[in-house]
Amino acid sequence: MDAEKAHRLALLSLKLTPDWMFPDAGNDEGLETFIWERKFSNPIGLAAGFDKNAEIISASYNMGFGFVEVGGVTLRPQDGNPKPRLFRLPEDQAVINRMGLNSQGADKVALSLEKSLSKGTSGPIAVNLSLNKAYNNYLSDFKELAKRFEGLVDLMIVNVSSPNTPGLRDLQDTSILASIVNEIRETFSVIPGKMIPKVLVKISPDLSPVDIERICFRALTEPFDGLVISNTSTDRPEILKSSSKKEIGGLSGKPLYAASTEILRQAYIQTGGEIPLIGVGGVFSGQDSYNKIKAGASLVQLYSSLVFEGPSLVARIKTELRDLMRQDGYLSISEAVGSDHV
Ligand code: FNR
Repeated sequence: MDAEKAHRLALLSLKLTPDWMFPDAGNDEGLETFIWERKFSNPIGLAAGFDKNAEIISASYNMGFGFVEVGGVTLRPQDGNPKPRLFRLPEDQAVINRMGLNSQGADKVALSLEKSLSKGTSGPIAVNLSLNKAYNNYLSDFKELAKRFEGLVDLMIVNVSSPNTPGLRDLQDTSILASIVNEIRETFSVIPGKMIPKVLVKISPDLSPVDIERICFRALTEPFDGLVISNTSTDRPEILKSSSKKEIGGLSGKPLYAASTEILRQAYIQTGGEIPLIGVGGVFSGQDSYNKIKAGASLVQLYSSLVFEGPSLVARIKTELRDLMRQDGYLSISEAVGSDHV
């Protein structure tokens, strides 16, 4: 079946499955972690792009995720790129997408989110904020987006690293990133007892080492509340075998694992472990997650592996992760964060 149709069908079936029909989501014992004064029952999250329009939040928690990122959301609705625009690379356990940030728009996604939250949720929610292809002014667009989601989410992830919107990744210049983060923060009203969303920046794996160093420096000095490492890549490693390898778009899945983990490792060194990092890219197992955590990730996310392994993957990853952590003598997963650097 065409990959995008399969994705739509997966969303529909997840949406329609009653809570009691989900298989065992696995045990979170020892995996609980506290970051930004928020409790995460486990560090494995659903990455941006799977639930763009906030349709399957409770199903995501039923699958066993410890947190969920909805979006990318653009301020105004947009269709994204012409189809086909999503390709599986089965021989490589990879995906290429050039969706182009198809979004129902901030109003509709915020409404879906509100509806879902009114039924109660089991953990922190992040929203991935990005720009329309024809944006007016990036600062005012991000400000409007942040206003729509204030009070609904715990984390706002600034996404100017998607490769499928022309010119978007140029906004990864450090001064521009800082102005976006500050513009978003200025929209928040401080209400005693109410938590203000944290603002993180998601980066591309295709940045040069110097650019990554600059972003890390800025992340410390501003400071940003965290970095998400990484988005998809336009790079095509030689090892790719699948017939779709030449499709234009962002590559994710197994072939992204090594590069995204190495950037994460460097970012942890450059930020001295001072700000939380979310590691994403090619996570298929508890070992992959554990490696990212030891390299410096406080939290881990995945998307592509779900395409190949299905929803029981999350429970398996948690079991493997707990075993690995215990073999190393850790009682809590937070003790393992950055342990490669000790
Ligand atoms: C994505 N990803 C993504 N990232 C983002 O910041 N905003 C988005 O809207 C999307 N959309 C999106 C769509 C599709 C179809 C895919 C496959 C991916 C990137 C995603 O969140 C993640 O960073 C990468 O896919 C790497 O993780 P995996 O897939 O290797 O686990």
